[in-house]
Amino acid sequence: MTQRRFIRACRRETVDRIPVWLMRQAGRYMREYRELKERAGGFWGLCNQPEAVAEATLFAQKWLGTDAAIIFSDITLPAWAMGLPLEFNPGPRFPTPVRSANDARALANFDPNQKLGFVMEGIRKTRAGLPNDVSLIGFVGAPLTLASYMIEGTPGRTWNELKKLAYGDPDTLHLVLARVAEAVSAHAVAQVQAGCDALQLFDTTAGELAAAELHTFAFAYARRVIEAVKKTGVPVIYFARNVSAHLEAAADLGADVLGVDWGISMTAARKRVGERVALMGNLDPSALFCSPDVVGQRTTAILEEMRGAPGFVFNLGHGILPETPPENARHLVRTVQAWKPSS
Ligand code: CP3
Repeated sequence: MTQRRFIRACRRETVDRIPVWLMRQAGRYMREYRELKERAGGFWGLCNQPEAVAEATLFAQKWLGTDAAIIFSDITLPAWAMGLPLEFNPGPRFPTPVRSANDARALANFDPNQKLGFVMEGIRKTRAGLPNDVSLIGFVGAPLTLASYMIEGTPGRTWNELKKLAYGDPDTLHLVLARVAEAVSAHAVAQVQAGCDALQLFDTTAGELAAAELHTFAFAYARRVIEAVKKTGVPVIYFARNVSAHLEAAADLGADVLGVDWGISMTAARKRVGERVALMGNLDPSALFCSPDVVGQRTTAILEEMRGAPGFVFNLGHGILPETPPENARHLVRTVQAWKPSS
């Protein structure tokens, strides 16, 4: 298993070529995904039927030819498992958001193998259907990011409800985050036990907070989850958005791989964090709306930047966008896989 190219890169071991996968690689930009969702009776049906989970995950990996697949699921499912009603349209909505200490205390403990057993079954089916040299990535939302959605109810542009707690009622936010950290840690470990080869934490909203609160509420709780998953022995990837001002701290949370967005060049990121972690990134997903030539050029420019450096996984700087031309995504993958360093 450790011979897989993606896992070797996560561990900063030498590789025959740079591995590549795309965040949110199975999604609405693919016609086949939209058809599968229709057949499954919508997004929920797709998430909670293990056959459909495996089909969505496997189709995207096979069509793109990536070195890793990410299990088809959503970061919000553990909140539902804690008893918080959840709807999708198409983004997640919590009709009864968490706003008080009492709301936080009402969040239930759950056994991921029971309540989210369909995810684990989906992982087992997917792993059985994947070629041996392709890795399977499990994922959770980092505590701050999942809590942001649970607190806002509908994803905010300003995240006012989250910030009202962060700046005005920190004790309540600590209470929510402690519960969420416990839940996502258990969910992450269960995914590894079900067969995932690596585990990614998505901390999409971390960069929304002011500097001090970023450390107290995002990084400190992400570290708890990373520590729990590290005990399983699989590589852990920490991806946060808009945190390039705090990259050193993000690299010190204990993860094996740091996901980097396009707000900083890969060269600058490597200089800042040194060799202590592998890096993953960082093409702006919007670049995939350009011509195949531009996609190829921008992809190659990043590969040239990282040439010879061990511990690099090619990815987008955030999830692929719903309107992306699928052929351009596949062209990116092929460009990475065909690339040879120019002398
Ligand atoms: O291949 C894959 O990566 C798909 C698995 C996946 C989904 N969501 C499926 C999904 C993953 C890894 C996620 C992560 C996720 N979900 C994050 C972190 C990553 C990021 O992009 O920031 C967040 C914040 C969520 C919460 C969430 N769920 C949002 C914001 C949305 C709306 C997304 C959109 O594109 O409009 C969802 C719904 C969702 N999750 C969809 C998919 C494919 C679209 C639902 C649909 O098809 O109707």
